[in-house]
Amino acid sequence: MSLPFLRAAGAALILSLSTMPNPVLAGDVVDSHSYANSAEVRTTHIALDLDVDFATSRLKGLAEIRFEKRKADADRMVLDTRALDVRSAEASADGKTWTATSFVLGDDDAVLGRPLTVRLPADATRIRVGYATRPEASGLQWLKAAQTAGKKQPFLFSQSQAIHARSWIPLQDSPAVRATYEARVKTPKGLRAVMSAEMSDAPDAAGRWTFRMPQPIPSYLIAIAVGDLAFQSTGARTGVYAEPATLKAAAWEFADTETTVALCEKLFGPYRWGRYDLLVLPPSFPYGGMENPRLTFVTPTVITGDRQLVSLIAHELAHSWSGNLVTNATWEDFWLNEGFTEYLTFRLTEAQFGQARGDMERVIGVADLKTDMGLAKSDEDRKLKRAFPSKDPDEVFSSIPYQRGALFLVYLESKFGRDVFDTFLRGWFDSHAFQSATSEQFLAYLDEQLIKAKPGVVTQAQIDAWVTQPQLPADAVYASSDALTQVDAARAAWLGGKAPIAAMGATSWTVQQWEHFFEGFPKTATAAQLKELDRTFKLTGSGNAIIAGAWYKLAVDSGQVAMVLPAMTEYLGRVGRMKLVSPIYRALAATDAGRAQAKALYAKLGAGYHPIAQQAVERIINGG
Ligand code: BES
Ligand code: ZN
Repeated sequence: MSLPFLRAAGAALILSLSTMPNPVLAGDVVDSHSYANSAEVRTTHIALDLDVDFATSRLKGLAEIRFEKRKADADRMVLDTRALDVRSAEASADGKTWTATSFVLGDDDAVLGRPLTVRLPADATRIRVGYATRPEASGLQWLKAAQTAGKKQPFLFSQSQAIHARSWIPLQDSPAVRATYEARVKTPKGLRAVMSAEMSDAPDAAGRWTFRMPQPIPSYLIAIAVGDLAFQSTGARTGVYAEPATLKAAAWEFADTETTVALCEKLFGPYRWGRYDLLVLPPSFPYGGMENPRLTFVTPTVITGDRQLVSLIAHELAHSWSGNLVTNATWEDFWLNEGFTEYLTFRLTEAQFGQARGDMERVIGVADLKTDMGLAKSDEDRKLKRAFPSKDPDEVFSSIPYQRGALFLVYLESKFGRDVFDTFLRGWFDSHAFQSATSEQFLAYLDEQLIKAKPGVVTQAQIDAWVTQPQLPADAVYASSDALTQVDAARAAWLGGKAPIAAMGATSWTVQQWEHFFEGFPKTATAAQLKELDRTFKLTGSGNAIIAGAWYKLAVDSGQVAMVLPAMTEYLGRVGRMKLVSPIYRALAATDAGRAQAKALYAKLGAGYHPIAQQAVERIINGG
C-alpha cells in the first residue's frame, strides 16, 4: 500500500509517479508546488456549485472531484488548499448517494497552503467538499463598486496561475493533472458570471449561471469573473465581455481578433476550443493578459485607442496551442508555455502587421531579457529549465522564460529553416495535444525529430547552452529595428543639445517607441529637460497607461518625483498591473527617502491591489 508521504510541517509532499502507463503524462514527474497524490488518485472532472457573496467577500458551496484510481488500493485523496474554510467531505460511488467521510487539513505552508486529505471508501469514484473561501483568498480579487468603470456594482475575478486555484477551489493544483469541469454559479441579481468554459447566456430561475469545459485542462486555467458585464461580438467565433462603460472602446480595439484566430490556424493547426472571447477586467488586474481557455482575461491598460498593443491578444491566443493544448507539466518547465508563446506571437505579429513591427517586438523582448538577466538573483534564475523546489513561482517571475525561450526557438528556426521548423512545431502540438509535458519530453522530441533526423546541423552542446547554462549563448540570433534605432538617435540628439525637442518626431511614435525612449533614458537628465519633455508631450496624467507609467518611473529615477506626485499617486491608486506599478515602486525603493515614500504610498493604496500584486509590491518595498 502506498500512502502519501508528508514531510515535516511546512514542507512539500514529494510525488513520484509510478512507472505504469500514463495517458496524461509519459514518464515521471515531481511537482514541488503541489501536495496532490496524483500518482495514486487522479482528478478527471470537477463540478462546482458556488454562491457568490459580495457582502462577505466569499465564495461558498461544493466542489465535487471525480477521479480515477491509479493504484487500486488507494484509500485517500490529497487536495491542495490555501486559506479555505472546509466544512464537510463526502464520498460517493455513483454521484447519487453521498456519505460523510473523514478529512484532515495539514499544516499551513506559506507558499503551498495546506494539504486536505480525504479518506476514500473502497467503492468511491468521487468526493465532494463543502467549503468557503476567505476574503483574502490569493487567487481572487473582490472589488468595491468604486473600483470599477461603472462605479455602481461590485466585481469579482480570479487569477489561478500559477498556484492560486487552490485558494478558491480545493483541488489537485498541479499543471500535470488535467480535468474537465462544469459549474453552477449563483450571483446577485443584475450581475453576470463568466468562466473559462462554454457558457449559458442567461441564469436559470434560481439565478444560477451554468458552465461546461469539455476538454481536459490544468487547474490553473479555471477562471471566473462576476460583475456588470455586457457582450459585443467581433466575429463568428470572437467577442468581448466588458463593463458597459468600457465595451465600445474594447470592441473597437480588439476588432481584428477573428483574423488573428484564422492566422493562428494557418500557422499552428486547428483552434480546438470553439469560441475565443476576451474579458476586459478593471485596471487592478495584476497581469497584462491571462490565457484562460475560451475567455482570455485582459487588462484595460492595453486599450490605447490605436490598436498598437494587440500583440498581447496574439500572445494570449497563441497560448491556445502552447500552454492550453500542450501544457508545462511543472512550473520549472514554464518556458515551454511562455517561450513558445512569445515565439508564436512574433510570428503572428509579423504575418499580420509586417516584418518591421515583428522585429520591433523582438528587439523589445531582447531588451527586457537583458534587463532581467541583470536583475536575476542567481544563475538558476537565468536558466530555461530551472529548479526552485517549494519556492513561490510568483517570486521568480521574469521575462527570462519568455524571451530566452523564444530566442531558443528563433535559433532552431534559423538553423533548420522556417519550413522544417514549422512542420516540427505543428507536430509537437498535434502529438501532445491535451497533454502536459516536461522540458525533458520536449528535448527528447526535438532530438528525435530534428537533431538526429537532420544530423550535423545542431549539436547537443549547443542545445545545452540554451537550456541548462546560465549565460546566453554567443551565437543567439538577434533582430534589429529601424523604428527603435531612430528613437535612440532622436533621444541622443535632443539630450545632447544637437536638435530641438520637436525634431524628435515623437508625435508620430507608437507606444512601443515611447517605451523604448524611456527604457534607454539616462538618469542624468536635468530637471529642465524633463520639464520640457512633459510640457511638450503632456506626459503627466497621460491617458495611455503605458506611457504614463514609464514617465513616472523616469521622474522617480531622475530624482524628480515632486514633478509628478499627485498624478502618479492617482495612477498607483487605480492601476494594479504589476508590470506597470512594480517598476515605479522599485525605482522609489532605490533610495532611503524614496523607500519611505513607497511605503507611505503603499499603505494608502495597497488595499486596492490584487493579493498577488500586494505580495509583489511588499517584496519590493521591504527589500526583496
Ligand atoms: N500566463 C501569463 C500570465 C501569468 C504568468 C500569470 C505566470 C501568472 C503566472 C500570460 O500569458 C502572460 O504572459 N501575460 C503577459 C503578457 C504577454 C504579452 C507577455 C503579461 O501579463 O504581461
Ligand atoms: Zn503568456
